[in-house]
Amino acid sequence: MSAVEIPAGLKELLQGYTVEVLRRRPPDLVEFALQHFTQILESQKNDQRAKKRSARPARKGVTFETKSDKPNKDEEEEDEDADKSTTSKYNRRVSVCAEAYNPDDDEDDDSEPRVVYPKTDEQRRRLQDACRDILLFKTLEQEQFSEVLDAMFEVLVKPQEHIIDQGDDGDNFYVIEKGVYDIFVQKDGASVCVGKYDNKGSFGELALMYNTPRAATIVATQDGALWGLDRATFHRLIVKNNAKMRRMYEAFIECVPLLKSLELSERMKIVDVLGARAFKDGECIITQTKAGQQDNTEVEVARCSRGQYFGELALVTNKPRAASVYAVGETKCLVIDIQAFERLLGPCMDIMKRNISQYEDQLVALFGSSLDLKH
Ligand code: CMP
Repeated sequence: MSAVEIPAGLKELLQGYTVEVLRRRPPDLVEFALQHFTQILESQKNDQRAKKRSARPARKGVTFETKSDKPNKDEEEEDEDADKSTTSKYNRRVSVCAEAYNPDDDEDDDSEPRVVYPKTDEQRRRLQDACRDILLFKTLEQEQFSEVLDAMFEVLVKPQEHIIDQGDDGDNFYVIEKGVYDIFVQKDGASVCVGKYDNKGSFGELALMYNTPRAATIVATQDGALWGLDRATFHRLIVKNNAKMRRMYEAFIECVPLLKSLELSERMKIVDVLGARAFKDGECIITQTKAGQQDNTEVEVARCSRGQYFGELALVTNKPRAASVYAVGETKCLVIDIQAFERLLGPCMDIMKRNISQYEDQLVALFGSSLDLKH
């Protein structure tokens, strides 16, 4: 029997698809395969187009102030063109020339000018409040987060206004400051309301992340306020950063003993919901619930370091916080919120419960007696 020759690139293609399936758990594998490989094809075509274009100078972005130097005459003329093309609502893109959005593509857009929409203190405060719980922003370092805030622009909307139409090219990502927004998806030729956003959250990330047409229509039901972030900045700061952080977290959680018992796909899901928080030396991360306590003296009972965890006890036992936790030096923790903790860490529950007896042993060693931590 003659040996079968495996075409070059087949292994990488199938591996890439498998990893994406594990990460995103699509309900329909065939449809997802179609999307995935179409995206790769588009990327390849764009790479070829980009190579052809590379002899020509790159066109500057859209209408914004930049922190770069004053533009020369040609650039000013180009910016004027850009002004005209972006007078439409929310700096909407008229047409997307389907850039290859490969987060691993490091042919960097760092050379792109920084987008800055000046804001009053009051606007910035409102914007910061609206962005506080946005998952996509959670892994940003302070400086990048600040750059994102600089680039966001305020959008006031009226009832019945369409913010996004299904099938359009993706222009901006939106964070909700206020207002209620209906979500419609086309099913069998009819537009079906599948949900709504009520005064919080964000939308419009899918088309920008995966370079696909808008997957839903979003309609304001009342006067509302949104903050938009243009596609190029979203890609440069959010998509690339998330891909980078994801690689880092994937590597990190492989070395967390607690998570070893999880399946690879379960660990991938954890990476999706992790946020990062930095603490200064001595900063309090968790505060012990003091109710009914006689003596307020604090005694150090243990130190945790890289790969260990804390904060699970109150969640596992449904009891108040049993100890305070302080940062020793500059520290960085990865954080999982309670909903994700309950949803994803079920398989580790037994290990965590078993480890609670170690806390009891520590207390016995220090004080000769222990509190009943488990019940
Ligand atoms: P995007 O496809 O860029 O634009 C429409 C947005 O609606 C989409 O990103 C999501 O952010 C949001 N959305 C909310 N619910 C759905 C849904 N059921 N299907 C698709 N998109 C949804």
